[in-house]
Amino acid sequence: MGVKILGIGSYLPEKVLTNFDLEKMVDTSDEWIRTRTGIQIRHVAADDEATSDLVIKAAREAITHANIQTDDIDTVIVATVTPDHFFPSTAAIVQAALNLRDVPALDISAACSGFIYGLILANGLLKTNISKCVLLAGAETLTKITDWQDRNTCVLFGDGAGAVVLKLTQDDSDILAYDWHADGSLGELLIQPAGGSRMPATKETVEKRLHYIKMQGREVFKHAIRCMSESATKVLELAGVGADELRLFIPHQANIRIIEAVRERLGLPQDKVMVTIHKHANVSAASIPLALYDAVNEGKIERGDLVLLTAFGGGFTWGSVLLRW
Ligand code: ACO
Repeated sequence: MGVKILGIGSYLPEKVLTNFDLEKMVDTSDEWIRTRTGIQIRHVAADDEATSDLVIKAAREAITHANIQTDDIDTVIVATVTPDHFFPSTAAIVQAALNLRDVPALDISAACSGFIYGLILANGLLKTNISKCVLLAGAETLTKITDWQDRNTCVLFGDGAGAVVLKLTQDDSDILAYDWHADGSLGELLIQPAGGSRMPATKETVEKRLHYIKMQGREVFKHAIRCMSESATKVLELAGVGADELRLFIPHQANIRIIEAVRERLGLPQDKVMVTIHKHANVSAASIPLALYDAVNEGKIERGDLVLLTAFGGGFTWGSVLLRW
């Protein structure tokens, strides 16, 4: 019995914000953003659009692509740090909107590594027969927790959702190896300080803008390169696969300079690395499924190809999954 990824879907909000738009909002420039991050545009959810709205659209496409009945899905997982509410979970809202009977539904919080964590959890649920068909989404509306007065962070993030359907089948598994980690001692380097039980939302926390993303970018940058390179290398070793055998490497899209540094450490040519940062910006848990979706639809990968996914994010969390697509 093996775990197969049967279908994939994605959704990006209609509104697009360019670097030139940002020049009018904070002291920044298209040139700085492009050269320091690789980002050119980002999609921004509408005021009345929540994370579940994005997931529902991506999920419908994934279900159609998987060619299954909605009733086949027996577990819903949404990886996000921008849920509609703390509770009910975004996954529960999605379950109801898609009329998925009373199947279990849960959110997972692993920031930019959320989709990788989700794949590893879904793989475990399927392999132990707890679930037979999992709908997994990575989705964010990061622009809702972005401080539009802080040029250090507001140029970096975007919104979107990607979803996959995973099923236990008689065939060989698509998930060949995985590796996942966390280091909570460094959590404060990338944090949304207020709004939780440590610092409940008050007039003062809002005035101090503590409910927005705070990041020590340079520190995060260094850890991201080291952790992503180590994890990618480890998962290849676990599977006994050489980097040269990969058809495509799909890293989390946070910064083109991080992607380039990891690519060099793995010894991969540029044409084997998926880059979507210019058009999506950093979409946290949605970045890898959105990039995987584009890779499939642009014909960059075909069934049977070896594809390596690697992410790093708040927590800190990081990890990799090696797929035979
Ligand atoms: N426009 C113009 N200047 C800017 C901007 C901006 N938007 N932002 C910062 N600067 C300035 C800074 O103020 C600083 O000026 P100073 O030298 O006068 O103080 C200068 O540019 C350099 O700032 P750095 O922070 O050192 O810039 P750096 O080259 O490190 O790039 C960045 C910053 C893009 C944030 C980078 O550090 C980065 O990508 N970090 C990693 C982000 C990441 O990987 N996140 C992962 C997970 S995200 C998640 O989990 C939700």
